[in-house]
Amino acid sequence: MTESKTPRRRVLSGIQPSGRMHLGNYLGAVQQWVQAQEEKEGLYCVVDLHAITVYQDPEELEEQVRGTAALLLACGIDPEKSVLFVQSHVRAHSEAAWILNCQTPLGWLERMTQFKSKAANKERASAGLLTYPVLQAADILLYDADEVPVGDDQRQHLELARDIAGRFNHLYGETFVLPEPVIRKFGARIMAFDNPTAKMSKSSGDAQGHAVALTDEDAKIRKTIKRAVTDSGREIVFSEDPEKAGVNNLLTIYKLLTGKDQEAVLKDFAEARGYGDLKKAVAEAVVESIRPIRERYERLMGDPAELDRLLAVGADRARALAEPKIIQIKERVGLTVPAALR
Ligand code: TRP
Repeated sequence: MTESKTPRRRVLSGIQPSGRMHLGNYLGAVQQWVQAQEEKEGLYCVVDLHAITVYQDPEELEEQVRGTAALLLACGIDPEKSVLFVQSHVRAHSEAAWILNCQTPLGWLERMTQFKSKAANKERASAGLLTYPVLQAADILLYDADEVPVGDDQRQHLELARDIAGRFNHLYGETFVLPEPVIRKFGARIMAFDNPTAKMSKSSGDAQGHAVALTDEDAKIRKTIKRAVTDSGREIVFSEDPEKAGVNNLLTIYKLLTGKDQEAVLKDFAEARGYGDLKKAVAEAVVESIRPIRERYERLMGDPAELDRLLAVGADRARALAEPKIIQIKERVGLTVPAALR
């Protein structure tokens, strides 16, 4: 490994604890986090405070936070190289969110498309749902993150985080790094097996045939992929044509799991006698990739003390970075920080 003199770029991302993590989350996000661990300093945060912007069953939430953390570790987030922690374990997130809330014009928040769509189907949307992106900005700005890998749906929230940082810097002096969104193009959108024109989603993740969960058994994975919707043709090609979305999705998954380039992937299927062969090969690639993840996950969930220990280490390391920053933020706006809080 080559030792670089410049400090590693800092990457931060947050992951929702609600729902079950699936292949789309893995290929669209977690796989890159794991691959980037050597060259970049990664901070990965299970965002339980974001989850409670809508009602969560308390016991289920706790279970899902632990499950999500365990899955991230199982996917290969290495607690020695990266900082994996639970958002609410670091108080500075809530404190910074409040201070940034007070700096954020209401109009900026009312424009957020995710808020508009989430609030539209709710009789009584919480105030938290409106200020959700400010908490997200706090997550990022507290750590001076250089890069924030997110899905395409988070682009607007990232722009808001930059606007909030810029405005704060302007009013109170240089305080925050302006974070760059990193939005993966290829493979960022893994589509649903039961409807390849829609993104694989956590909320529909329990529907039969929609997604492959990272905790699914081999047989279930094979069954889901065998039933994947394709088209009535027989051409195995990468294609933007909506008609070929199912085949394109299967090839994309295969490509990302095997690490082969497009040409090599197509070569693997040059002799295929139809979509049956394609599905079989994709299913095996998925089974082989998910099996070790599932096994590590089960081991961690069976050892709560070890999971607690790893999360405590992560929270300690996150706190060591966030604490000096929250003190600086408070001082900037004129809040005194008593010795007891230093
Ligand atoms: N809002 C993000 C999502 O739903 C999750 C998130 C919370 C996040 N805090 C973050 C993502 C900070 C990146 C950085 O996916």
